[in-house]
This record gives sequence, structure tokens and C-alpha cells, in this order.
Amino acid sequence: MSRRQVSSTRRFVDTGNFPFSGALHSKSRSSPLLSIALVVVGAFLLIGYAYSGSGIFGGAKVVSRAEGDFSCTLEVQRAIPILKKAYGDSMHKVLHVGPDTCSVVSKLLKEEETEAWGVEPYDIEDADASCKNLVRKGIVRVADIKFSLPYRPKSFSLVIVSDALDYLSPKYLNRTLPELARVAADGLVIFNGSPGQQRAKVAELSKFGRPAKMRSSSWWVRYFVQTSLEENEAGISKFEQAASKQSYKPSCQVFHLKPYN
Ligand SMILES: *[C@@H]1O[C@H](CO)[C@@H](O)[C@H](O)[C@H]1NC(C)=O
Repeated sequence: MSRRQVSSTRRFVDTGNFPFSGALHSKSRSSPLLSIALVVVGAFLLIGYAYSGSGIFGGAKVVSRAEGDFSCTLEVQRAIPILKKAYGDSMHKVLHVGPDTCSVVSKLLKEEETEAWGVEPYDIEDADASCKNLVRKGIVRVADIKFSLPYRPKSFSLVIVSDALDYLSPKYLNRTLPELARVAADGLVIFNGSPGQQRAKVAELSKFGRPAKMRSSSWWVRYFVQTSLEENEAGISKFEQAASKQSYKPSCQVFHLKPYN
């Protein structure tokens, strides 16, 4: 081991903000090898940390879904009959916004007198052929919901959102929620996770960029008021009636909002 290498290693330690740098300095005098070993280990840890945020473990997401991971998008699929009862005619032109939107859109398209479109906020590299077909036809669009939606005002009778808002900070919510309301003519139905349903695993972090923050129902209601969105009392009561008739109990928080006038 040449002196030169050791000193360049020390420089690296000096510039890096390692929590162990003090320990490295005291050891390096007696054992340069040990300090190099520690730097190498530290570098590996940093590299591992950097990669864990950039999607290298993205494949694990599929595994967690298969294990029956909790999802409000699945909940939307279960709730379609209830939504049809509650919203009737307003289900004729639906936009779903959220991950796995292809599954919701395909299901809605099987319903009579229902046209459906989807916005998928995340990449769909691992989507199946029928999903890619929906994208090719322009029925499903892949779009970052932090920016304006590519639709004219009131393009859809009903806009349904799932698993999408939990991942947005208030700063982005302030832009996204009015956008969702803008493209809705009759109403907006939002399926959010409940506090305690913590499902942001390391694998999901890579997909969503930040862990989901499950906010309480009162947080959301306050937020809707701030954003000048009114709850749709008629929608709420019709949904609850239909749900109790079919013994359907949503495991997500479901909010019904009026569109902007
Ligand atoms: C979001 O909008 C509300 C109401 O306009 C405002 O009070 C709040 O400060 C905004 N939050 C952020 C993080 O911009």
C-alpha cells in the first residue's frame, strides 16, 4: 500500500460527511488498511442507498401485489356496482386516475352504457398487452398528475381517483385536486388510504418517489374546504345506501365532491 493512496483516501474521508469520520481519523494513524476498508464499506452503503431510491428493486412491487397487498384501486373495482347505483347517469363517461388504471378502465368498459378513460400516474413498462393496447388507443394516458391533465373542462361526467393523492404533498395537492375537479362535470369520487394502512414498502418508494402519507378523514375534509371543494351530500347518502344494501364496507376512505360550478 503506497503512502499516496492512503492520503488520497484521507482526503475523501475529510470531504465526505461520514458520521464515522472521527473514528476513521483516529484509526487511520495506526491502521490505514482498516480506514480504507471502512471507506469501501461506506461507499457501498452509499451506493446501495442511492440505488434503492431509483427503481432498481422495482420488480419487488409485483411480488407485494401478488401477496394481496392492500390497494384502493382494487377497492374501486369492487365498488363499481355501488357507484353505479349511487351515480346512475353520471357513470356514462368516467375518468379513473390512479395506479393500475387499466384494470379499472377494462372493468368499467364491460359495464353497459359506460365509457371510460384512465390516467396512469406511473410508468407502465411491466403492463400487460391489453393495457398497452388501451394506451395505444388513447383510452389510458400515462401522465404525471402533478401537472395539468390533458383534458378540457368538464370532459367527464364522473372522475374517480384512487391511491394517487396519498402520495402528494399539500403543495402538489393544491394543483392536482383543482385539476381533477376541473375535468369533472357531475362529481369527483376519491378513494384514499386510511391512517394505519401503511403500505409504502421500500419497493413502493421507488415507484412513487415518496412514501404514502395516510391522512385522516378530518384532514381531508378540512383540505377540501380550503380548496373550495364542497362535499356532495347527495352522492354520499346514495353511496352509503347502496353500500349497506349490498353489505359493502369500503376499506378505503371514500369522499364524494361536487365539481366546480
Ligand atoms: C394550499 O392552498 C391553500 C388554500 O389556497 C393554502 O392555504 C395553503 O397554504 C397551500 N399550501 C401549500 C403547501 O402551498
